[in-house]
Amino acid sequence: MTKPVFNPFDPEFRANPHAFYDALREHDPVHQVPGGLTVLTRYDDVAAVLRSNDYSRDIEKSATPVDTPVANRRRERRSDNAAKSILNLDPPDHTRLRRLVSKSFTPSSIEPLRAMVQRYVDQALDTAEQRVREGGEFELIDDLAFPVPFLVISEMLGMPTTRVDEIREWSQLLTRTLEPTVTLQDLDDTDRAMEQFLPFLSEVIADRRARPGNDMLSALIAAEESGDTMSTAELVTFVVLLYVAGHETTVNLVGNSVLALLHHHDQLVWAREHGLDSNAVDELLRFDGPVQHTVRVPLKPVQFVVGDRTIEVPAGSRVLTSLGAASHDPKVFDEPHRLNLRRPNANKHLGFAAGIHYCLGSSLAKMETQVTIDSLLRRFSRIELAAEPQWRDRLTIRGVDRLVLAVAR
Ligand code: HEM
Repeated sequence: MTKPVFNPFDPEFRANPHAFYDALREHDPVHQVPGGLTVLTRYDDVAAVLRSNDYSRDIEKSATPVDTPVANRRRERRSDNAAKSILNLDPPDHTRLRRLVSKSFTPSSIEPLRAMVQRYVDQALDTAEQRVREGGEFELIDDLAFPVPFLVISEMLGMPTTRVDEIREWSQLLTRTLEPTVTLQDLDDTDRAMEQFLPFLSEVIADRRARPGNDMLSALIAAEESGDTMSTAELVTFVVLLYVAGHETTVNLVGNSVLALLHHHDQLVWAREHGLDSNAVDELLRFDGPVQHTVRVPLKPVQFVVGDRTIEVPAGSRVLTSLGAASHDPKVFDEPHRLNLRRPNANKHLGFAAGIHYCLGSSLAKMETQVTIDSLLRRFSRIELAAEPQWRDRLTIRGVDRLVLAVAR
């Protein structure tokens, strides 16, 4: 048989990546793409790379530079004085920042926010239901999945509500830069957005330093470990990341999960009867998580064993760990393409990655998804797809653009 090819640009891949992942995992699990990219699809390889100290997340610093207009432009943008995001730092800088921010995201810091999340979900559902009553449509992404995490992170941080529309637009532009398909135009647009977003955030932070409140931004400003605190530049970069991370991810987990439940009627019935527990949300993440892959750079030559071959991957190259493929590896998950909300090992999924960069917002994302989907199922006894959903033209972040639902009480 001819070897499978990793071509995430194929529209078929967007609609059903698992046929491609399965073929790669089975026939070429350490898939080398010309130009220095290695694609890993086996669970054990992906988990081991994410947990290993032999890899860097700081691609700009550690990877052999690529000479393309977008790569050159990215390097130019990064050479300014802005602080690097926690997501792109290696130890010891990563360790220091993660220690300072982690207290704000522990399950015990997040659980008290449940009532606030419920309030935003109920408001969004009330508005949507009213529109349906008046003959309009209910489009899950814009009407429910997007506004809730956005309002929640804004309220958590205590952000002024005056520039909500702009913040939303800036964050959306920023998430485009995470995609391998990013264009020079996207980078220009993002730079223009950042010219407004950064001074706005610096002002909010200066104000909060002077007048601390009972919000997460004040807690981050006050966070101190062994006499160490975050600088204003670090705080600004972190808040930007929270908007980006809190936006495109939870939104798509809600969208992908509702779609998965509509395609698995028995599981929808179970979810209605029992509500979603933590394990069920893990299974939804395993089944169709919003973050499909992440990249690491080996700091020294590394080896992978495939059958009787040892494949050497050079230092400075790019290793793409496919979280989506790993979470459907039949060696770890029985019948991986079946949604099973009671799967005993659902929480082994890699949808939040693993190792030192394991998603900081995992408790928040899971709680938001649980409240949102449970409330949707409680509100409407009939939920059906009213139109075929369109997958977004994105590769790193997987989700649908529009999910129009026909609903009734
Ligand atoms: C379903 C929703 C979410 C998913 C699937 C998700 C997934 C991920 C993944 C895969 C990573 C690691 C990336 C890598 O190793 O390269 C990550 C990191 C991170 N996530 Fe999330 N995320 C979600 C929601 C959130 C939310 C709601 C927040 C905060 C408001 C958040 C904040 C972060 C932060 C700060 C990091 C960087 C952690 C570090 O580098 O130490 N995420 N997330």
